[in-house]
Amino acid sequence: MLRLTPSGFINSLTEPQWGRLLREFQETHAVKLPSFLDSRLTRLAQEGLARFSFAPLDASPHYRWEVSSGPAGRQLMFLCTHPDFLDLLSRLSGYPRYMMCGGGIYRLITEKGHYIHWHDDGPWPEDWPVKIGVSLSVALNQELFEGGRFQIRRKNSTQIIREIPNVKAGDAILFRTSTEMEHCNTPMKGRAAKCAFVCQLRGCP
Ligand SMILES: [Fe+2]
Repeated sequence: MLRLTPSGFINSLTEPQWGRLLREFQETHAVKLPSFLDSRLTRLAQEGLARFSFAPLDASPHYRWEVSSGPAGRQLMFLCTHPDFLDLLSRLSGYPRYMMCGGGIYRLITEKGHYIHWHDDGPWPEDWPVKIGVSLSVALNQELFEGGRFQIRRKNSTQIIREIPNVKAGDAILFRTSTEMEHCNTPMKGRAAKCAFVCQLRGCP
């Protein structure tokens, strides 16, 4: 089990479990982590979201969503800089050093026309020599939603390498990012909103 708790990151995977996770990431560039976010953190984040407003964000052609103005996203980003979590990313992806690059909590609502089209979690500046990363998406929704399934593929191909539904609060998806890969969410359906914490970690020289 991989789990983020208020006191840090816990990795209790056995060697065989680790081997399976590593193989899955190497083959499909994405893994699902059930109950990654500790139930206390999930509840705290959900309670925090209820106290703050969401603001529309459509500055990119790739996505239109709402972002939370509260502190929960920053708190979760801080927890994701735990050295043991960064070490896990290194072992999983094969790249030795990662740093937190950005993140927050977003919400997708069908009736507001929200979407996440294909994108690569860039921009990837020319003068930044390392153009690889790992991104994390953790479900925080209060209700089960329809659609909004994660997909990942190579940019030069239309073939979906992996599709993962992520509807239960606390579950996470960890996936590879680079200038050669892209990911999206399938269109939202129904009345329940998708709410998730996302953060981008980048390889650093
Ligand atoms: Fe993304």
